[in-house]
Amino acid sequence: MTGPLRSGETALLVDGKGRHYLIRLQEGGVFHYHLGMVPHADLIGSEPGIRVTSSGGGRLLVLRPRMVDFVLKMPRGAQVVYPKDMGPIVMYADVAPGLTVLEAGTGSGALTLALLRAVGTGGRVVSVERRPDHAELAHKTIVRWLGEVPPNLDLRVGEAEDVVAEVPVDRIILDLPEPWHIVKVAAASQRPGLILCSYLPTVPQVQTTVEAMEESGGFAEIEVFETLHRTWNVSGRSVRPDHRMVGHTGFVVIGRRVTQETQR
Ligand SMILES: C[S@@+](CC[C@H](N)C(=O)[O-])C[C@H]1O[C@@H](n2cnc3c(N)ncnc32)[C@H](O)[C@@H]1O
Repeated sequence: MTGPLRSGETALLVDGKGRHYLIRLQEGGVFHYHLGMVPHADLIGSEPGIRVTSSGGGRLLVLRPRMVDFVLKMPRGAQVVYPKDMGPIVMYADVAPGLTVLEAGTGSGALTLALLRAVGTGGRVVSVERRPDHAELAHKTIVRWLGEVPPNLDLRVGEAEDVVAEVPVDRIILDLPEPWHIVKVAAASQRPGLILCSYLPTVPQVQTTVEAMEESGGFAEIEVFETLHRTWNVSGRSVRPDHRMVGHTGFVVIGRRVTQETQR
């Protein structure tokens, strides 16, 4: 994450029009675009922040990508959680270093990366995906970003319901269409103290999920929110919101697993 760019890592090139290109640096590699080419050798060993000129005279800013840059450009099988929602999910579900998190479905692996970062090397992420093709792409994407599947990431192909019933965890983060099935299993099998978070694109899904959490009797402090992210144009005296924004992605539903017993 620091120091000169190395062979094998991903670099971000930004052209004069602000277009982003993610490239995997390798010895002998060459980056091609509409303004010619740049040999990777010109980038490997350089500090991020330099500018290079392509064979066709294009100027390119060379950066180390943030996770946000990577997630917005990475190959996708399934729709990813947008970075604007990842931060609030991690914060409101209180995903912290050392915790064990169960994620489902893995999808493209975008949220997996954020969860791994949040739990740190002392924590653990178990991520479950029912579709082998999605699981395979997520595996490749994680290796592309991290260089390997880290030892504290357990990628499984299977049904979320089965894993929730088997593996005791501190947090459950769900980005799948019918979390209410898992809510019931979590209420029956997971211990109090767990925080469960679902990311859902539509209102009926939110309603059914909240009802399932309430009916189970195992969840309290249920919160629902969405995050609106509006970027701004700041250029001379033109200081205003951008004309376009991502209008809707998903709602976040959070609840805390509690016991129904009252102690004196
Ligand atoms: C929207 S994608 C998840 C995207 C992921 N959060 C990301 O950021 O890349 C939903 C995934 O859940 C998987 N899925 C749906 N129901 C499932 C279940 N019951 N158990 C495991 N995976 C499931 C789907 O196959 C799909 O890949």
